[in-house]
Amino acid sequence: MRIAILGANGPTGRLLTEQALAAGHDVVALTRRPDEFPIVHQKLVVAGGDVLDPDAVDPVVDGSEVVLSALGTPFTKEQVEVYSGGGRNTLDAMKRFGTSRFVVVTSGAVTGEPEPTGGFLFNRVLQPYVTNVLGKTVYDDMRRLEELMADSDTDWTVLRPSGLFDLPEVTEYSITAEHGPGRLTSRRDLAAALLLQATDQRFVRKVAHVITTVDNPSLLSMMWREARKK
Ligand SMILES: NC(=O)c1ccc[n+]([C@@H]2O[C@H](COP(=O)([O-])OP(=O)(O)OC[C@H]3O[C@@H](n4cnc5c(N)ncnc54)[C@H](OP(=O)(O)O)[C@@H]3O)[C@@H](O)[C@H]2O)c1
Repeated sequence: MRIAILGANGPTGRLLTEQALAAGHDVVALTRRPDEFPIVHQKLVVAGGDVLDPDAVDPVVDGSEVVLSALGTPFTKEQVEVYSGGGRNTLDAMKRFGTSRFVVVTSGAVTGEPEPTGGFLFNRVLQPYVTNVLGKTVYDDMRRLEELMADSDTDWTVLRPSGLFDLPEVTEYSITAEHGPGRLTSRRDLAAALLLQATDQRFVRKVAHVITTVDNPSLLSMMWREARKK
């Protein structure tokens, strides 16, 4: 199967690209920094371009059976449009080229609903501060993307991970329609869940929450590690 990967050069995107190639798929990877893309493989084409430019998106979607997106951007006070703008360009291209399966990533915090085991500090203080203040423009654009997906006539799936961290192997993560217990998702598990959607129909035209249930670091140490990465 030929799979187009958007956001292929991000931490999750690179893992997804590796997993898709290891599973024997042909991959077209879109990144604005093709010279810095670390993966070389005979079944991989690296396309340079911005997802907000329809001319960059078209050749990536053309001929692909599935589009998997791990696009994202750091928190900023500026207006964010990479999620919805990238989604819109991809949906337009899919219509033109007859591609039907589109899977994107937003966040488990996008609805503002409390996390089942979150507790007072997480649900009433930390999460609202992140979603309504620190990351407001990111979450606003994730919501615009979710609306675009729901209004589209594609076979879409929205994956909502929780806070991202890194583990060395894919685990037996949980993927469920409702937000299950747990505040963290490993990027390898998120990549595996994205790739699974290429061949699994359970979450077509649905939202799915992806949670890593084992080997979770403490929330504080995870936030510290993520903050040092940026
Ligand atoms: N961090 C968390 O705790 C958390 C929690 C829940 C959900 N999420 C979401 O999970 C997803 C994956 O996160 P991540 O940390 O693996 O990745 P990320 O750091 O958000 O990076 C994603 C990649 O998207 C690409 N990108 C951004 N703007 C682009 C544009 N205009 N055109 C083309 N490519 C563009 C960038 O690659 P290039 O610069 O090479 O183009 C970037 O490396 C994101 O959607 C994120 O918002 C994160």
